[in-house]
Amino acid sequence: MAEDLIISSGTKAEQYETLLPQIKALIEGEPDLIANLANITGALKEQFGWFWVGFYIVRQEELVLGPFQGPVACTRIRKGKGVCGSSWESAIAIIVPDVEKFPGHIACSSLSKSEIVIPVIRNNTVVAILDVDSATLNTFDSTDQFYLERIVDMIEWLCR
Ligand code: SME
Repeated sequence: MAEDLIISSGTKAEQYETLLPQIKALIEGEPDLIANLANITGALKEQFGWFWVGFYIVRQEELVLGPFQGPVACTRIRKGKGVCGSSWESAIAIIVPDVEKFPGHIACSSLSKSEIVIPVIRNNTVVAILDVDSATLNTFDSTDQFYLERIVDMIEWLCR
């Protein structure tokens, strides 16, 4: 497909509905994990303009920073630490309306105010996580969780 993204300006759900088939098309036929993670972060950042969008990949005992869009970030996070490490440990998505109220939140930037983390699960094991940060409070809800989970479902087969 052409590498131009069609940007939607509708409701949040409409924006995801426009974006998802484009992400699917970008991934289809490309077996390289890093290339696909990079394009997913680019597409999400371009559509929604969030502060930070990126992946952390499970490497032995730590999450290691993968492709992302936004300011530089912490490179390694241990299991159970911060929002990302908690999502890895529990294997469930975590929505944080106000990062200052999440015990143990890891502040890569003081500008990040709310966050959502989605685990990428393959064969019942968390292999990576998608982390999205917003510069405003209360950005993420169940609609984001629903669609971001659809997106990570598209790439779990590439993670091993
Ligand atoms: N806030 C995350 C750390 C990663 S950065 O936000 C990019 C956490 O608490 O795990």
